[in-house]
Amino acid sequence: MISYGVAVHGGVGSPAEFSDGCRTACEAAFQLLEAGKSALDAAVEAARVLEDDGRFNAGSGSVLRIDGKTVEMDAAVMDSEGHIGAVINIRGVKNPVLVARAVLGSPHVAMAGRGAQAFARRLGFGPYYEVSERAAANYERIKSRMGKEDFHFFRQWVGEQKISGGKGKAKRTDTIGVVALDKKGVFSVASSTGGASPMLVGRVGDTPMVGCGFYAGPEGAIAVTGLGEESIRKMLAKTVYDMVAEGMGARASCEKALGLLPQHVDMGIIALTKNDYGAASTRKMPMAQYSAIRP
Ligand code: GLY
Repeated sequence: MISYGVAVHGGVGSPAEFSDGCRTACEAAFQLLEAGKSALDAAVEAARVLEDDGRFNAGSGSVLRIDGKTVEMDAAVMDSEGHIGAVINIRGVKNPVLVARAVLGSPHVAMAGRGAQAFARRLGFGPYYEVSERAAANYERIKSRMGKEDFHFFRQWVGEQKISGGKGKAKRTDTIGVVALDKKGVFSVASSTGGASPMLVGRVGDTPMVGCGFYAGPEGAIAVTGLGEESIRKMLAKTVYDMVAEGMGARASCEKALGLLPQHVDMGIIALTKNDYGAASTRKMPMAQYSAIRP
């Protein structure tokens, strides 16, 4: 039995050597849990560390939209006591997960776009518009892989096949996610992303959608990374949650959920319950996990 613990992923498709960033985030969160802080505090702190790392597609490492200049980010937090906060397509902040946490403490559950940014500014979150070198290079790579015609086509309009099939190798979807369990037995999840690429300005993925990119309940916490459109179609986080709630092991549940997806889709899932931790992914996914076992 797990007494308390935390697990972190750095996004499906992210290089395995980025695991050091996941370990750093995990250590920061685990220290908070050891000190008796809530799973929510711990999950948010780990997500903030990953947002600030710059190598992951979240916060300061967020990818660019198809126009080559816009960064719009999604983030969400949830705990097993029913608290939820999300930001959708927020621009110009360094740590969307901290704004999502602030939304959780507001009368609302989710804030989007300009309103979310105004909300953040009122709370003192200053402007941040830097684009990481990695994100800029990723944009150029996507552009060249798509080919000029496809790229201009995508800029005008996006069809189902373009976003969920066909040119899969050109996509990047490496969201970050954290699941945590505290000493009081409360679960929490935090997720943050710059989105998938290529994507239109205004596109929203699964990361801020409850039950799709994230879910936490009395039986566990689930974080999903991968192509948001497919995760939304399957309500993937809640699907995995229901499996663990029925008694299937965390790892088996993650693996079974991957089996529900079309074969070309990249997806990764982490799940934490009081019994076990599990993960599964279609490609490499940097991860870290620390837990204290009940004697
Ligand atoms: N999973 C991140 C996204 O699709 O936006």
